[in-house]
Formats: sequence, structure tokens, C-alpha cells
Amino acid sequence: MTYSDFGLVNTRDMFRDAIANRYAVGAFNFFNMESLRAIVTAARVIRSPVILAVSESALNYIGDGMLMAMIAGLELDIREMVALHLDHGHSFEVCARAVDVGFSSVMIDASAMSFDENATVSARVAEYAHRYNVSVEAEIGTIGGVEDENTKSDIELFTRPDDAVEFVRRTGVDSLAVAIGTAHGAYKRRADSVGLRFDILAELERRLPDMPLVLHGASSIPEKFIREINLNGGHLIGAGGISREQLARAATTNICKINVDSDSRLAFTATVRGELANNPGVFNPREYLGAAMGAVYENTMDEMINIMNSGNRVS
Ligand code: G3H
Ligand code: 13P
Ligand code: ZN
Repeated sequence: MTYSDFGLVNTRDMFRDAIANRYAVGAFNFFNMESLRAIVTAARVIRSPVILAVSESALNYIGDGMLMAMIAGLELDIREMVALHLDHGHSFEVCARAVDVGFSSVMIDASAMSFDENATVSARVAEYAHRYNVSVEAEIGTIGGVEDENTKSDIELFTRPDDAVEFVRRTGVDSLAVAIGTAHGAYKRRADSVGLRFDILAELERRLPDMPLVLHGASSIPEKFIREINLNGGHLIGAGGISREQLARAATTNICKINVDSDSRLAFTATVRGELANNPGVFNPREYLGAAMGAVYENTMDEMINIMNSGNRVS
């Protein structure tokens, strides 16, 4: 089966519309049935395009067959503009596997390699994925923070516009993840100090006017979730995110994909902790998982409306 059999679309038309109309499409990571349903329902209710993101480790956690069965269960229509995207694929092999099982978009993240190696493997993924009309994202520069279970980077290297131009020319990728001051995870050290480097972003737009750019590590880390977690036995001290105002401003530029994972994890965990603490007699998982699904739904919808500005974009 190909991705269109699942009612999925690639990201090409989404990004074209997002650049033309100065908004961004949210790429929300999911990790189970509840988070998947929450994200898709939010998108459907406000008629927003959405990118369902699955990290390499989430793909291994859920399993290819189970994952695609859940996607089939959504009964998507291509007019809903939903893409299924592999987030931070670290090798040609995992990207090819995602293409083969029915993803409509893949990210090859070889940013930890040398520039030449990164360009070589990204071009190889683009060549393979494009045969199936699957869109490809790659990354240059180093986005700070904890990227995933496999990669931890403590250094932050902003994307150099010269490198970006050369990289796009050599690889033929469809979109480019850039490092302009965001960081993965719940502890975004840079966020409250310098903020996003809109000067670098402007230069990237000037040099690559039609290139869709991607913002990783873009969770805002809502204080209410941190408070709820810490109130109910958690220990997340010093967590903080990117300012919502800066993210909303970025959404009006050629940044047309904004990645959120940590906010959904926090919404989910805060709600589970709260439900269990406040209802000591509860032991039916549907009660606290259902509440957690509701919290992810509310947060996703809020970010789509107030950060991405992506509501009412699909008919
Ligand atoms: O950007 C990375 C994502 O947050 C994925 O993290 O590999 O722990 O699922 P994960
Ligand atoms: P956050 O950790 O800020 O949610 O970033 C998610 C991300 O970039 C997924 O690729
Ligand atoms: Zn990321």
C-alpha cells in the first residue's frame, strides 16, 4: 500500500500554502493511540493541516504494523491534509523502511556527521523517497538539547546560510531544519536568554527564498504542566521553553513546520499524575488515559490556533 491509500498527503502542498499565507503547519509527535487521536481530532475540529510525527524510537516502540493499523483506523481523507512523517531518522535504512511502510514524509537527520557525509546520505534518501513522491527533510547545524534517545548534543551551532545554500543544492531535499536557537526537550537553556535568531532566519530566507524551513525543539513548555507534575510527585526543576510570541512570529516567515513533542508529553504526564493523585481509588486506565488524551487535545488545538495560525486552512 502507498501512503495515499491511507488518505495521507506529502508535505509539498502544505508548505507551499503555508509560505504563501504566512502560517506554519504543526508537526506533533505522538507515542500511543491516545496522543494520536488527540492530535488528529484537534486538527479536524479546527480544520487545520497537520503533520503526525513519529520519531525513530517511537516507531520501534509502537511497531510498523501497529502504527500503520492505527493510521488506517483514522479513516483519513486526502482533503484533510494529514501527513505521516518520520522524525529524526538517523540512517538511510530507517528512512527507506518508513517510505516502504507508507509514510508520506521522512526526515533524515545526519546532522551529527560531517557536512559532506550529511549531504551524501541526505541526497541518497531524497533520491529514494522521491521515487515514491515522499517528501524529505534534512538538518544542518546542531539543534541543542536532548534530541532523542540516540543522540545527545550539548553544543549548539547555528545554521550558516552559506552551508544551507550549498546543502540544498547538493541534496535536493524538500525542506530544511535549521538551528536558530531552539533546543529539544523541557530544558531549553537558550530560550530565556537570547531567544530565536531572527537575523539568521532573515538571511536564510533571503538566500533560499522558496525553501520551506523547519523549526525543531519548538515546545513552549507551559508552566501549568510543570506545576501540576511537581505538585504530584514529579521533579522537573528549571524546565522552560521558547516564548509563544517568538514562535508565532516565526510562523509568519518561511518557517512552515513547527515541531512539538515535549508539550504533549508534559500535558499527558501532568494529567495522569493529577488524576492519580486526586482520585486514589482509580484503577481503570481508561479514566486517567482518557483525561490525558483530553489534555493533549486542548494543548494541540491551542498551539495550532495561537502559535501556528493553521486553523481553517482545509476545506
Ligand atoms: O526531537 C525528538 C523527539 O522529541 C523524539 O524523541 O526519540 O524520545 O521519541 P524520542
Ligand atoms: P520539543 O522537545 O521542543 O517538543 O521538540 C520536538 C521536536 O523537535 C521533534 O522533532
Ligand atoms: Zn526535532
